[in-house]
Amino acid sequence: MIIVNISVVGTGYVGLIQSVGLAEFGFKVVGIDIDERKIKLLNRGITPLYEEGLEELLKKHVGKNLRFTTSYEEIKNSDVIFLCVGTPQDRDGNADLRFIYSAVNSIKRYFDDRYRIIVVKSTVPVGTNRKIKEMLGGCNVDVVSNPEFLREGIALRDFFNPDRIVLGFEDVNNSRPIDIMKEIYKYFLDKRVPFIITDWESAEVIKYAANAFLATKISFINEIAKLIDAVGGDIKTVSKALGLDERIGDKFLNAGIGYGGSCFPKDVKALIKQFESRGIEPKLIKATDEVNEEQIHWFLNKIKRYYGDLNGKTFAVLGLAFKPNTDDLRESRGIKLIDLLLREGSIVKCYDYVEKARENTIERYRLDTSGAYYGYNLYVLDDIYETVKDVDGIIITTEYSQLIDEDWDKIGNLVREKIVFDGRNILDKERIKELGFKYFGVGRG
Ligand code: UGA
Repeated sequence: MIIVNISVVGTGYVGLIQSVGLAEFGFKVVGIDIDERKIKLLNRGITPLYEEGLEELLKKHVGKNLRFTTSYEEIKNSDVIFLCVGTPQDRDGNADLRFIYSAVNSIKRYFDDRYRIIVVKSTVPVGTNRKIKEMLGGCNVDVVSNPEFLREGIALRDFFNPDRIVLGFEDVNNSRPIDIMKEIYKYFLDKRVPFIITDWESAEVIKYAANAFLATKISFINEIAKLIDAVGGDIKTVSKALGLDERIGDKFLNAGIGYGGSCFPKDVKALIKQFESRGIEPKLIKATDEVNEEQIHWFLNKIKRYYGDLNGKTFAVLGLAFKPNTDDLRESRGIKLIDLLLREGSIVKCYDYVEKARENTIERYRLDTSGAYYGYNLYVLDDIYETVKDVDGIIITTEYSQLIDEDWDKIGNLVREKIVFDGRNILDKERIKELGFKYFGVGRG
């Protein structure tokens, strides 16, 4: 079978990367989404989200082998349909599969006798691929689980350089869908990227287990950092030494104020629910989640211990996005901390290097253009030096490397009190102390 037409349902973060990536491989791709405004933007070559290199690639292909539409009717002409809709968290912490099921029902309406493949890229709990196949009962279709491992900010780089391609099938002895997926991902085969060909359930678990494992590494080092904080020492040295053991590895061992984003918090919680619904208690994964939820309160208490009362104190919060170089505020620890500080009666001046992250913050709190909220207690500023002016303390909430190279001498002259709470351990502790700052990190003595 020669793949001619591919459609991608959902033009969010995953769907958009998948669409432009497949277009770059040379396929004819149609992106489908119900959001008319987004579709119009995309057809004009404008991305609604910030991701390095994405707009260039979109512009390169849109109007040629890539277009976007709100019409599910396109499915009629598609051989392969990638499902990339969101699976947000419901009120109980489960993955909400509403968008998945509604997309499947919309797709089904346009199925005829022609053989098709549905590839599920959305992060879905165990059993969902099987459920989708059941919903399509009687259709000439194979369902393939193909989880994504993209990181925001470097998603395109991750797309073209994956560590592995995971493909889950109903029957691993049925070569038809396997061969088609290999044809679509020939670029990766040629690059000798390992392919994991497995069953649906394993593929579904791999995605959650990968995220939960990385989250556990973070919570683990955050827990060790608390001990270091009590006894003295430096967690950065501990992490470095741990990481040099190849069995441990040096990635995701940076202690801080916890993980945020649209994936780790939600996926860890959804994984817990998947255990519990089967009567199993996931002790370790639960602890990962608990440590993470607690971490920001632990850090706030550290700040409180120093000042006694936070009421009326002014802070510069540096970092709004959940991690550097994205505009994404979802589950951002910086935003959580701002909420907590405002509740304590503090005045918060905040800043992020990414302009769109600042704009999203203004929108989130429905601030006017002067950045006012809670009777002028919250200010979003466009300049880091303006942000630190006359504050009682600086709090770093996102691990921006640019912070290292800021003029800390100048900053020292602008603040009311020279004190930094480095929630991401990004600064050189000794250098900052030499400049007369008091320094508090996470597990840095
Ligand atoms: C994460 C995974 O890394 C991707 O592999 C996965 O595909 C994605 O979720 C997803 O499921 O879609 P992402 O959410 O973009 O990617 O962000 P990460 O770079 O993994 O960072 C997550 C959070 O962990 C950030 O808040 C970051 O500050 C924090 N973190 C990371 C630490 O606190 N310490 C570390 O050592 C590393």
